[in-house]
Amino acid sequence: MHTHIINPSIENEMKLAAQIIKEGGTVVMPTETVYGLAADALNENAVEKIFKAKGRPSDNPLIIHVANFKDIYPLVKNIGEKAKLLAEKFWPGPLTMIFEKSDLVPSITSGGLDTVALRIPKDKHARELINKSGKVLAAPSANISGSPSPTRFEHVYGDLFSKVDAIIKGEPCKVGLESTVINMVGDVPKILRPGAVTAEEIASLLGEVEIDESIISGLSLDEEALSPGMKYKHYSPNTKIIVSHLAKDDYIKMLNSMDGKKVGALCFDEDVNLLNIKSVSFGDEYDPKTQAEYLFSSLHKIDKLALETVYARAPKLTGVGLAVYNRLIRAAGFHCEFPKVNVLGLTGQTGSGKSSIARILGDLGAAVIDCDKVTRLPDIYPKECLKQLQKTFSYDIINEAGELDRKKLSSYAFSSKENTEKLNLIVLPYIVAKIASIIEEYKINGKKLIVLDAPTLFEAGADSVCDKILVAKAPKELRLNRIIKRDNLSKGEALKRINSQKEEAWITALADFIIDTENVEEVRAKAEYVFDKLCHYRK
Ligand code: TXA
Ligand code: MG
Repeated sequence: MHTHIINPSIENEMKLAAQIIKEGGTVVMPTETVYGLAADALNENAVEKIFKAKGRPSDNPLIIHVANFKDIYPLVKNIGEKAKLLAEKFWPGPLTMIFEKSDLVPSITSGGLDTVALRIPKDKHARELINKSGKVLAAPSANISGSPSPTRFEHVYGDLFSKVDAIIKGEPCKVGLESTVINMVGDVPKILRPGAVTAEEIASLLGEVEIDESIISGLSLDEEALSPGMKYKHYSPNTKIIVSHLAKDDYIKMLNSMDGKKVGALCFDEDVNLLNIKSVSFGDEYDPKTQAEYLFSSLHKIDKLALETVYARAPKLTGVGLAVYNRLIRAAGFHCEFPKVNVLGLTGQTGSGKSSIARILGDLGAAVIDCDKVTRLPDIYPKECLKQLQKTFSYDIINEAGELDRKKLSSYAFSSKENTEKLNLIVLPYIVAKIASIIEEYKINGKKLIVLDAPTLFEAGADSVCDKILVAKAPKELRLNRIIKRDNLSKGEALKRINSQKEEAWITALADFIIDTENVEEVRAKAEYVFDKLCHYRK
């Protein structure tokens, strides 16, 4: 098949491109997002050529590109107020909205759905092609299905030369990622594909917006949970890509210790000079717009390195970063590597300032488990445990409703040291098991550090589930004053409580980190230091 290469600055060549569209042919056009493979959206034969050239599954619907807002009316059943707001703010631009389709839109264009996706592009050559041809244009990204979307003429040329009637040779695409796709059917609009128009921008305009779960579901590593729309492999170079969530220093260290003949890096500009293996940068770490602009070009470059595996650094998941990450995990076939999640045991004598440290760690993003609360959970003791307690102490610790009477149990169990030991022997394994299951749940839910706030961490044996131990300490006089104030105690009561606990030296001997809380101003910086040491996720 002959492919015309069109120079868009020559009027007659653009006329030829428009003529090809009018006659039901296919033309690759630049847009601000990625290059698109365009044909008359209302001509079934023309649309069929798009599917054929791309090797695209026929149930994957196309986006129709129009030049002006009024042109969407004949294509849809209705346009709500929210869509009008979005159009006013973001069109022309990198946003695609989905509406119920009118009968004018052929089923082949909408992939058999009764909805249709619409976009008004900003790129002047795309607009010129629409205007000169007088048609509305179906245009998916101009790549072979499954490979990275083209953001430069060379990419299109490699994939589609001799498979289409014409290619308009435009500039590299400025946005670099495909448009944000948002479903406007239903009450609350839902983002199906993130792009340069961000969820935050849409939410601030509309008040609310949903984000489809599949957008970052690579995080769960659970491929079964992916939505059907995500069933196709996307954007993939031949080299295996693994997306790493490691913090920068850990990432650099890991890669520099690997075999540079086999392993490379897909990283940020700032990382290149720190690495002594081959690397391709996909933008500035702190500027996700540059990442969007260069990601696909970088994916195209990767295969030229002739490596087995490339480790990509995960971008931040906010703003445009979400769109970058969404494409990256698809390029990696959802292969992500997460750092080990550490469990930090936090303990100390009463009044040592443990809770304020727990609060700071929580603010920094750690999940904090309050062990005292765990012991009071209604389902903490299973039946066999309750039976054992009855046998050991008394049958009336279970009331008529079949519930544990905690007051009664305490009255028996704390009546002597011996009884307290008996109680601990029975209940502690269940408490520690419960804590372990809460820890697992936090890990599954993507928490990056887990803190176990436990006054009697060692005595309960809960240190067995911890990777590191942090001990809070403070001078005795200060602890005394703190608990007198906090718990409204007399000095005598407070002293008795303090003296019944393990000695400070006994606890600190078992610590990996110690924070002295006497100087309040320093506590935050010290807690941040511990957080940074133990949380190996990217910041
Ligand atoms: O930036 C872009 O959107 C580029 C340029 C060329 O405009 N186009 C593009 O098209 O990325 P394509 O076909 O590669 O991606 C369109 C996405 C697909 O994931 C498709 O499943 C989805 O939009 N889509 C299209 N119509 C839909 C509909 N009615 N319901 C749900 N998803 C739809
Ligand atoms: Mg595509």
